[in-house]
Amino acid sequence: MQFTANSLEQHWMPFTANRDFKQSPRIIVKGEGVYYTDHKGGSVIDGSSGLFCCPLGHGRTEIAEAVHQQLLNNDYAAPFQTSTPGGFELAQKVARITPEPINHVFFVNSGSESVDTALKMCMAYHRARGEGHRTRFVSRERAYHGVNIGGLSLSGMVKNRETFSGVMPNVVCMRHTWNPDALFVRGQPESGAELADDLARFCETYGGSPIAAVFVEPIAGSTGVLVPPKGYLERIREICDEHGILLVFDEVITGFGRTGSAFASQEFGVTPDIMTMAKALTNGAQPMGAVAAKDDIYTTITEAAPENAIEFFHGYTYSGHPAACAAGIAVQDIYASEGSFGQAAALSEYFLDGLYSLSDIDSVRDIRGYGLLGGVELHAKGGPGARGTQAQKDLFWNGMHVKFTGDTACVAPPFISTKEHIDEMIEKLRMTLEKA
Ligand SMILES: Cc1ncc(COP(=O)(O)O)c(C=O)c1O
Repeated sequence: MQFTANSLEQHWMPFTANRDFKQSPRIIVKGEGVYYTDHKGGSVIDGSSGLFCCPLGHGRTEIAEAVHQQLLNNDYAAPFQTSTPGGFELAQKVARITPEPINHVFFVNSGSESVDTALKMCMAYHRARGEGHRTRFVSRERAYHGVNIGGLSLSGMVKNRETFSGVMPNVVCMRHTWNPDALFVRGQPESGAELADDLARFCETYGGSPIAAVFVEPIAGSTGVLVPPKGYLERIREICDEHGILLVFDEVITGFGRTGSAFASQEFGVTPDIMTMAKALTNGAQPMGAVAAKDDIYTTITEAAPENAIEFFHGYTYSGHPAACAAGIAVQDIYASEGSFGQAAALSEYFLDGLYSLSDIDSVRDIRGYGLLGGVELHAKGGPGARGTQAQKDLFWNGMHVKFTGDTACVAPPFISTKEHIDEMIEKLRMTLEKA
Protein backbone atom coordinates (compact mmCIF):
# COMPACT_ATOMS: atom_id res chain seq x y z
CA MET A 1 0.00 0.00 0.00
CA GLN A 2 1.31 3.47 -0.89
CA PHE A 3 1.36 6.22 1.72
CA THR A 4 -0.03 9.21 -0.14
CA ALA A 5 -0.71 12.02 2.36
CA ASN A 6 1.43 15.01 1.43
CA SER A 7 1.03 16.78 4.77
CA LEU A 8 1.39 15.35 8.27
CA GLU A 9 0.38 18.62 9.91
CA GLN A 10 -3.38 18.19 10.38
CA HIS A 11 -3.31 14.90 12.31
CA TRP A 12 -2.76 15.72 16.00
CA MET A 13 -1.35 12.42 17.20
CA PRO A 14 -2.09 10.91 20.64
CA PHE A 15 0.67 10.38 23.24
CA THR A 16 3.21 11.43 20.60
CA ALA A 17 5.94 14.07 20.35
CA ASN A 18 4.11 15.55 17.34
CA ARG A 19 6.77 18.03 16.20
CA ASP A 20 9.58 15.53 16.49
CA PHE A 21 7.57 12.76 14.83
CA LYS A 22 6.64 14.91 11.88
CA GLN A 23 10.33 15.64 11.22
CA SER A 24 11.07 11.92 11.05
CA PRO A 25 7.84 9.95 10.74
CA ARG A 26 7.48 6.25 11.44
CA ILE A 27 4.39 5.17 9.56
CA ILE A 28 3.18 1.59 9.34
CA VAL A 29 1.54 0.80 6.01
CA LYS A 30 0.99 -2.95 6.35
CA GLY A 31 0.72 -5.70 8.94
CA GLU A 32 1.02 -9.41 8.30
CA GLY A 33 1.72 -12.11 10.87
CA VAL A 34 4.22 -10.71 13.39
CA TYR A 35 5.64 -8.15 10.95
CA TYR A 36 4.78 -4.64 9.94
CA THR A 37 6.02 -2.82 6.85
CA ASP A 38 6.94 0.84 7.28
CA HIS A 39 6.42 3.60 4.71
CA LYS A 40 9.98 3.19 3.43
CA GLY A 41 9.38 -0.50 2.77
CA GLY A 42 11.31 -1.70 5.85
CA SER A 43 10.26 -4.82 7.74
CA VAL A 44 9.50 -4.21 11.44
CA ILE A 45 8.87 -7.07 13.87
CA ASP A 46 6.04 -6.33 16.29
CA GLY A 47 7.50 -6.71 19.77
CA SER A 48 4.52 -5.29 21.64
CA SER A 49 1.59 -6.89 19.78
CA GLY A 50 0.72 -3.37 18.62
CA LEU A 51 -0.17 -1.94 22.02
CA PHE A 52 -0.66 -5.36 23.71
CA CYS A 53 -3.75 -5.92 21.57
CA CYS A 54 -2.78 -8.21 18.69
CA PRO A 55 -1.76 -11.60 20.15
CA LEU A 56 -2.91 -13.34 16.96
CA GLY A 57 -0.68 -11.16 14.82
CA HIS A 58 -1.84 -9.03 11.92
CA GLY A 59 -3.91 -9.53 8.81
CA ARG A 60 -6.01 -12.46 10.02
CA THR A 61 -8.47 -13.15 7.23
CA GLU A 62 -11.00 -14.88 9.53
CA ILE A 63 -11.41 -11.65 11.48
CA ALA A 64 -11.49 -9.41 8.41
CA GLU A 65 -14.09 -11.62 6.72
CA ALA A 66 -16.31 -11.73 9.80
CA VAL A 67 -16.29 -7.92 10.00
CA HIS A 68 -16.87 -7.59 6.25
CA GLN A 69 -19.86 -9.96 6.31
CA GLN A 70 -21.33 -8.20 9.33
CA LEU A 71 -21.07 -4.77 7.71
CA LEU A 72 -22.79 -6.08 4.57
CA ASN A 73 -25.56 -7.65 6.63
CA ASN A 74 -26.13 -4.89 9.18
CA ASP A 75 -23.69 -2.08 9.85
CA TYR A 76 -25.43 -0.59 12.86
CA ALA A 77 -28.51 -0.65 15.08
CA ALA A 78 -29.27 1.31 18.24
CA PRO A 79 -28.01 -0.55 21.31
CA PHE A 80 -30.48 1.16 23.69
CA GLN A 81 -33.81 -0.70 23.94
CA THR A 82 -32.99 -2.66 20.76
CA SER A 83 -29.98 -4.84 20.10
CA THR A 84 -28.15 -7.01 17.59
CA PRO A 85 -27.31 -10.73 17.92
CA GLY A 86 -23.52 -10.32 18.16
CA GLY A 87 -23.48 -8.78 21.64
CA PHE A 88 -25.31 -11.76 23.15
CA GLU A 89 -23.07 -14.25 21.41
CA LEU A 90 -19.84 -12.47 22.33
CA ALA A 91 -20.94 -11.90 25.94
CA GLN A 92 -21.57 -15.62 26.26
CA LYS A 93 -18.15 -16.48 24.86
CA VAL A 94 -16.44 -14.02 27.20
CA ALA A 95 -18.45 -15.19 30.24
CA ARG A 96 -17.36 -18.75 29.47
CA ILE A 97 -13.70 -17.86 30.11
CA THR A 98 -14.06 -15.38 32.98
CA PRO A 99 -13.83 -16.83 36.49
CA GLU A 100 -17.06 -17.83 38.23
CA PRO A 101 -19.32 -16.12 39.20
CA ILE A 102 -18.39 -13.34 36.75
CA ASN A 103 -21.01 -13.83 34.06
CA HIS A 104 -22.41 -10.47 32.98
CA VAL A 105 -20.68 -8.47 30.26
CA PHE A 106 -21.26 -4.79 29.40
CA PHE A 107 -19.71 -3.61 26.12
CA VAL A 108 -17.83 -0.34 25.60
CA ASN A 109 -15.34 0.90 22.99
CA SER A 110 -11.99 1.12 24.74
CA GLY A 111 -10.10 0.33 27.89
CA SER A 112 -10.64 3.85 29.18
CA GLU A 113 -14.38 3.51 28.78
CA SER A 114 -14.29 0.14 30.52
CA VAL A 115 -12.69 1.72 33.58
CA ASP A 116 -15.15 4.62 33.74
CA THR A 117 -18.01 2.16 33.29
CA ALA A 118 -16.66 -0.01 36.10
CA LEU A 119 -16.47 3.05 38.38
CA LYS A 120 -20.14 3.75 37.71
CA MET A 121 -21.07 0.11 38.25
CA CYS A 122 -19.44 0.24 41.68
CA MET A 123 -21.37 3.40 42.56
CA ALA A 124 -24.66 1.94 41.26
CA TYR A 125 -24.13 -1.31 43.18
CA HIS A 126 -23.50 0.37 46.52
CA ARG A 127 -26.41 2.76 46.01
CA ALA A 128 -28.74 -0.13 45.15
CA ARG A 129 -27.75 -1.77 48.45
CA GLY A 130 -28.41 1.39 50.43
CA GLU A 131 -24.68 2.12 50.77
CA GLY A 132 -24.53 5.21 48.56
CA HIS A 133 -22.17 6.75 51.13
CA ARG A 134 -19.35 4.65 49.68
CA THR A 135 -17.80 7.32 47.49
CA ARG A 136 -14.09 6.87 48.03
CA PHE A 137 -11.89 4.89 45.61
CA VAL A 138 -8.47 3.37 46.10
CA SER A 139 -5.90 2.91 43.37
CA ARG A 140 -2.13 2.65 43.25
CA GLU A 141 0.95 4.67 42.44
CA ARG A 142 2.15 4.00 38.88
CA ALA A 143 -1.29 2.68 37.91
CA TYR A 144 -2.61 3.26 34.40
CA HIS A 145 -6.37 3.06 33.99
CA GLY A 146 -6.81 4.98 30.75
CA VAL A 147 -7.30 8.63 30.05
CA ASN A 148 -10.95 9.48 30.67
CA ILE A 149 -11.60 11.56 33.76
CA GLY A 150 -12.60 8.58 35.91
CA GLY A 151 -9.67 6.41 34.92
CA LEU A 152 -7.31 9.37 35.05
CA SER A 153 -8.39 10.04 38.63
CA LEU A 154 -7.29 6.49 39.46
CA SER A 155 -4.07 6.90 37.57
CA GLY A 156 -0.75 6.99 39.37
CA MET A 157 1.43 8.14 36.46
CA VAL A 158 2.54 11.70 37.02
CA LYS A 159 2.84 12.86 33.40
CA ASN A 160 -0.70 11.75 32.67
CA ARG A 161 -2.04 13.60 35.68
CA GLU A 162 -0.13 16.81 36.25
CA THR A 163 -1.72 18.87 33.46
CA PHE A 164 -5.20 17.77 34.48
CA SER A 165 -5.40 18.41 38.18
CA GLY A 166 -9.18 18.89 38.28
CA VAL A 167 -10.02 15.22 38.34
CA MET A 168 -12.43 13.18 40.50
CA PRO A 169 -11.86 13.78 44.21
CA ASN A 170 -11.71 11.10 46.90
CA VAL A 171 -9.16 8.82 45.30
CA VAL A 172 -6.16 7.64 47.29
CA CYS A 173 -3.22 5.66 45.98
CA MET A 174 -1.51 2.73 47.63
CA ARG A 175 2.23 2.42 47.10
CA HIS A 176 3.38 0.65 43.94
CA THR A 177 5.06 -2.74 44.25
CA TRP A 178 8.36 -2.18 42.45
CA ASN A 179 11.33 -2.61 44.77
CA PRO A 180 14.56 -0.92 43.58
CA ASP A 181 16.52 -3.10 46.00
CA ALA A 182 15.36 -6.34 44.34
CA LEU A 183 16.18 -6.01 40.65
CA PHE A 184 16.05 -8.60 37.84
CA VAL A 185 13.36 -10.64 39.60
CA ARG A 186 11.77 -13.12 37.20
CA GLY A 187 8.08 -13.80 37.80
CA GLN A 188 6.45 -12.82 41.08
CA PRO A 189 8.73 -11.24 43.70
CA GLU A 190 8.97 -13.25 46.94
CA SER A 191 8.59 -10.18 49.13
CA GLY A 192 6.30 -7.18 49.05
CA ALA A 193 2.90 -8.69 49.94
CA GLU A 194 2.85 -6.40 52.97
CA LEU A 195 2.42 -3.40 50.62
CA ALA A 196 -1.21 -4.48 50.37
CA ASP A 197 -1.57 -3.35 53.97
CA ASP A 198 -1.64 0.22 52.66
CA LEU A 199 -5.30 -0.57 52.00
CA ALA A 200 -5.77 -1.67 55.60
CA ARG A 201 -4.22 1.64 56.70
CA PHE A 202 -6.67 3.59 54.54
CA CYS A 203 -9.48 1.66 56.20
CA GLU A 204 -8.05 2.66 59.59
CA THR A 205 -7.67 6.29 58.51
CA TYR A 206 -10.89 6.87 56.55
CA GLY A 207 -12.92 3.90 57.76
CA GLY A 208 -13.60 0.96 55.45
CA SER A 209 -17.27 1.77 54.99
CA PRO A 210 -16.87 4.91 52.84
CA ILE A 211 -14.62 3.05 50.36
CA ALA A 212 -16.48 1.91 47.26
CA ALA A 213 -13.80 -0.02 45.41
CA VAL A 214 -10.15 -0.76 44.87
CA PHE A 215 -8.82 -0.77 41.30
CA VAL A 216 -5.65 -2.66 40.46
CA GLU A 217 -3.98 -3.97 37.34
CA PRO A 218 -2.96 -7.50 38.38
CA ILE A 219 0.30 -6.80 36.51
CA ALA A 220 0.79 -3.04 36.14
CA GLY A 221 1.50 -2.96 32.42
CA SER A 222 1.81 0.50 30.95
CA THR A 223 4.01 1.77 33.76
CA GLY A 224 6.71 -0.70 32.74
CA VAL A 225 5.48 -4.16 33.81
CA LEU A 226 5.32 -4.50 37.60
CA VAL A 227 4.54 -8.07 38.59
CA PRO A 228 2.61 -8.47 41.86
CA PRO A 229 4.58 -9.93 44.79
CA LYS A 230 3.46 -13.36 45.94
CA GLY A 231 0.47 -13.03 48.28
CA TYR A 232 -0.15 -9.37 47.40
CA LEU A 233 -3.36 -9.74 45.39
CA GLU A 234 -4.65 -12.32 47.88
CA ARG A 235 -4.14 -9.83 50.73
CA ILE A 236 -5.93 -7.04 48.82
CA ARG A 237 -8.87 -9.42 48.28
CA GLU A 238 -8.96 -10.29 51.99
CA ILE A 239 -9.02 -6.66 53.11
CA CYS A 240 -11.74 -5.82 50.57
CA ASP A 241 -13.85 -8.68 51.92
CA GLU A 242 -13.38 -7.55 55.51
CA HIS A 243 -14.76 -4.11 54.69
CA GLY A 244 -17.37 -4.74 51.97
CA ILE A 245 -15.16 -3.02 49.37
CA LEU A 246 -15.45 -4.08 45.73
CA LEU A 247 -12.29 -5.29 44.01
CA VAL A 248 -11.85 -4.35 40.35
CA PHE A 249 -9.11 -5.96 38.28
CA ASP A 250 -8.17 -3.88 35.26
CA GLU A 251 -7.29 -6.66 32.83
CA VAL A 252 -7.06 -4.45 29.75
CA ILE A 253 -3.51 -5.73 29.13
CA THR A 254 -3.50 -9.00 31.06
CA GLY A 255 -6.84 -10.25 29.69
CA PHE A 256 -7.05 -12.91 26.98
CA GLY A 257 -3.97 -14.95 27.60
CA ARG A 258 -1.07 -12.55 28.17
CA THR A 259 -0.13 -14.32 31.44
CA GLY A 260 -0.72 -17.80 30.01
CA SER A 261 -4.22 -18.08 31.51
CA ALA A 262 -7.37 -16.51 30.09
CA PHE A 263 -7.16 -13.76 32.71
CA ALA A 264 -4.57 -12.84 35.33
CA SER A 265 -7.30 -13.47 37.86
CA GLN A 266 -7.13 -17.21 37.13
CA GLU A 267 -3.35 -17.14 36.78
CA PHE A 268 -2.91 -15.66 40.27
CA GLY A 269 -5.93 -17.42 41.79
CA VAL A 270 -7.71 -14.27 42.97
CA THR A 271 -11.24 -13.46 41.82
CA PRO A 272 -12.26 -9.80 41.69
CA ASP A 273 -15.84 -8.54 41.68
CA ILE A 274 -15.51 -6.71 38.38
CA MET A 275 -13.04 -7.04 35.52
CA THR A 276 -12.29 -4.51 32.82
CA MET A 277 -10.94 -5.66 29.46
CA ALA A 278 -10.33 -4.36 25.92
CA LYS A 279 -7.39 -4.70 23.49
CA ALA A 280 -7.08 -8.47 22.79
CA LEU A 281 -10.87 -8.88 23.04
CA THR A 282 -10.93 -8.20 19.28
CA ASN A 283 -7.21 -8.71 18.59
CA GLY A 284 -7.19 -4.94 18.08
CA ALA A 285 -9.08 -5.32 14.80
CA GLN A 286 -12.03 -3.23 16.01
CA PRO A 287 -12.15 -0.79 18.93
CA MET A 288 -13.91 -2.53 21.79
CA GLY A 289 -13.80 -2.94 25.54
CA ALA A 290 -15.95 -4.70 28.09
CA VAL A 291 -16.72 -4.82 31.79
CA ALA A 292 -17.56 -8.18 33.30
CA ALA A 293 -19.34 -8.29 36.65
CA LYS A 294 -20.28 -10.92 39.20
CA ASP A 295 -23.86 -12.22 39.14
CA ASP A 296 -24.57 -10.46 42.44
CA ILE A 297 -23.57 -7.07 41.04
CA TYR A 298 -25.79 -7.48 37.98
CA THR A 299 -28.80 -8.72 39.94
CA THR A 300 -28.42 -6.15 42.72
CA ILE A 301 -28.37 -3.27 40.23
CA THR A 302 -31.11 -4.62 37.95
CA GLU A 303 -33.46 -5.75 40.71
CA ALA A 304 -33.28 -2.39 42.47
CA ALA A 305 -35.29 -0.85 39.61
CA PRO A 306 -38.90 -1.57 38.65
CA GLU A 307 -39.28 -4.46 36.17
CA ASN A 308 -39.87 -2.24 33.11
CA ALA A 309 -37.41 0.53 33.99
CA ILE A 310 -33.86 1.16 32.76
CA GLU A 311 -31.66 -0.04 35.61
CA PHE A 312 -28.23 1.39 34.75
CA PHE A 313 -28.23 4.84 33.19
CA HIS A 314 -25.09 4.33 31.21
CA GLY A 315 -24.06 3.21 27.72
CA TYR A 316 -22.48 4.38 24.49
CA THR A 317 -23.84 4.80 20.96
CA TYR A 318 -21.36 2.16 19.90
CA SER A 319 -21.75 -0.24 22.86
CA GLY A 320 -21.72 -3.72 21.32
CA HIS A 321 -21.24 -2.36 17.79
CA PRO A 322 -22.05 -5.16 15.33
CA ALA A 323 -18.68 -4.96 13.55
CA ALA A 324 -16.76 -5.04 16.86
CA CYS A 325 -18.85 -7.99 18.05
CA ALA A 326 -18.18 -9.83 14.78
CA ALA A 327 -14.45 -9.28 15.26
CA GLY A 328 -14.69 -10.33 18.91
CA ILE A 329 -16.57 -13.53 18.08
CA ALA A 330 -14.08 -14.48 15.37
CA VAL A 331 -11.17 -13.77 17.73
CA GLN A 332 -12.62 -15.76 20.63
CA ASP A 333 -13.21 -18.67 18.24
CA ILE A 334 -9.57 -18.54 17.14
CA TYR A 335 -8.36 -18.41 20.75
CA ALA A 336 -10.38 -21.56 21.45
CA SER A 337 -9.52 -23.47 18.29
CA GLU A 338 -5.79 -22.62 18.27
CA GLY A 339 -5.35 -22.89 22.04
CA SER A 340 -3.81 -19.39 22.02
CA PHE A 341 -3.55 -18.95 25.77
CA GLY A 342 -1.68 -22.27 25.98
CA GLN A 343 0.60 -21.06 23.17
CA ALA A 344 1.44 -18.01 25.29
CA ALA A 345 2.13 -20.19 28.33
CA ALA A 346 4.32 -22.55 26.29
CA LEU A 347 6.42 -19.73 24.82
CA SER A 348 6.83 -17.83 28.09
CA GLU A 349 9.98 -19.54 29.43
CA TYR A 350 11.80 -19.14 26.11
CA PHE A 351 10.78 -15.50 25.90
CA LEU A 352 11.82 -14.77 29.49
CA ASP A 353 15.16 -16.57 29.01
CA GLY A 354 15.82 -14.28 26.06
CA LEU A 355 14.68 -11.16 27.87
CA TYR A 356 16.78 -11.80 31.00
CA SER A 357 19.82 -12.51 28.80
CA LEU A 358 19.87 -8.73 28.24
CA SER A 359 20.74 -8.09 31.89
CA ASP A 360 24.49 -7.79 31.11
CA ILE A 361 23.95 -4.65 29.00
CA ASP A 362 25.32 -1.53 30.74
CA SER A 363 22.30 0.65 29.97
CA VAL A 364 19.86 -1.88 31.50
CA ARG A 365 18.81 -1.11 35.06
CA ASP A 366 16.15 -3.79 35.66
CA ILE A 367 14.19 -6.50 33.91
CA ARG A 368 10.76 -7.74 34.98
CA GLY A 369 8.62 -10.35 33.33
CA TYR A 370 5.73 -12.75 33.52
CA GLY A 371 4.02 -14.81 30.83
CA LEU A 372 4.56 -13.08 27.51
CA LEU A 373 4.97 -9.67 29.07
CA GLY A 374 8.26 -8.09 30.02
CA GLY A 375 9.74 -4.75 31.02
CA VAL A 376 13.34 -3.80 30.25
CA GLU A 377 14.14 -0.64 32.19
CA LEU A 378 17.12 1.51 31.21
CA HIS A 379 19.16 3.76 33.47
CA ALA A 380 17.87 7.27 32.83
CA LYS A 381 20.26 9.50 30.89
CA GLY A 382 19.62 13.14 29.99
CA GLY A 383 16.44 13.32 32.11
CA PRO A 384 13.66 10.80 32.73
CA GLY A 385 12.44 9.20 29.52
CA ALA A 386 15.02 10.75 27.18
CA ARG A 387 17.05 7.58 26.75
CA GLY A 388 13.92 5.44 26.32
CA THR A 389 12.46 7.76 23.70
CA GLN A 390 15.65 7.64 21.65
CA ALA A 391 15.96 3.86 22.09
CA GLN A 392 12.40 3.37 20.85
CA LYS A 393 13.18 5.30 17.67
CA ASP A 394 16.51 3.53 17.12
CA LEU A 395 14.87 0.17 17.68
CA PHE A 396 12.23 0.98 15.07
CA TRP A 397 14.87 1.78 12.48
CA ASN A 398 16.64 -1.43 13.49
CA GLY A 399 13.43 -3.21 12.51
CA MET A 400 11.45 -3.69 15.73
CA HIS A 401 8.42 -1.99 17.21
CA VAL A 402 8.25 -1.80 21.02
CA LYS A 403 6.09 0.38 23.24
CA PHE A 404 8.20 2.37 25.69
CA THR A 405 6.98 4.06 28.85
CA GLY A 406 9.62 6.53 29.96
CA ASP A 407 12.84 4.52 30.03
CA THR A 408 11.19 1.10 30.03
CA ALA A 409 10.60 -1.07 26.99
CA CYS A 410 7.33 -2.99 27.39
CA VAL A 411 7.84 -6.16 25.38
CA ALA A 412 4.79 -8.29 24.60
CA PRO A 413 5.22 -10.60 21.61
CA PRO A 414 2.23 -11.95 19.70
CA PHE A 415 1.28 -15.45 20.90
CA ILE A 416 1.78 -16.78 17.36
CA SER A 417 5.49 -15.88 17.51
CA THR A 418 7.92 -18.72 16.90
CA LYS A 419 11.17 -19.17 18.83
CA GLU A 420 12.93 -17.67 15.79
CA HIS A 421 10.77 -14.56 16.10
CA ILE A 422 11.66 -14.29 19.79
CA ASP A 423 15.36 -14.67 18.89
CA GLU A 424 15.02 -11.87 16.35
CA MET A 425 13.35 -9.61 18.93
CA ILE A 426 16.03 -10.25 21.56
CA GLU A 427 18.80 -9.70 19.01
CA LYS A 428 17.33 -6.38 17.91
CA LEU A 429 16.85 -5.27 21.50
CA ARG A 430 20.48 -6.15 22.28
CA MET A 431 21.81 -4.38 19.20
CA THR A 432 19.85 -1.24 20.11
CA LEU A 433 20.25 -1.18 23.89
CA GLU A 434 24.01 -1.78 23.73
CA LYS A 435 24.27 1.56 21.95
CA ALA A 436 21.59 3.36 23.98
C1 LIG B 1 -4.66 -1.36 32.39
C2 LIG B 1 -5.20 -0.42 31.35
N1 LIG B 1 -6.39 0.15 31.55
C3 LIG B 1 -6.92 0.99 30.66
C4 LIG B 1 -6.26 1.29 29.49
C5 LIG B 1 -6.86 2.24 28.51
O1 LIG B 1 -7.23 1.59 27.34
P1 LIG B 1 -7.54 2.43 26.02
O2 LIG B 1 -6.26 3.00 25.53
O3 LIG B 1 -8.14 1.39 25.09
O4 LIG B 1 -8.53 3.46 26.38
C6 LIG B 1 -5.02 0.70 29.24
C7 LIG B 1 -4.27 1.01 28.01
O5 LIG B 1 -3.15 0.64 27.81
C8 LIG B 1 -4.46 -0.16 30.19
O6 LIG B 1 -3.27 -0.71 30.03
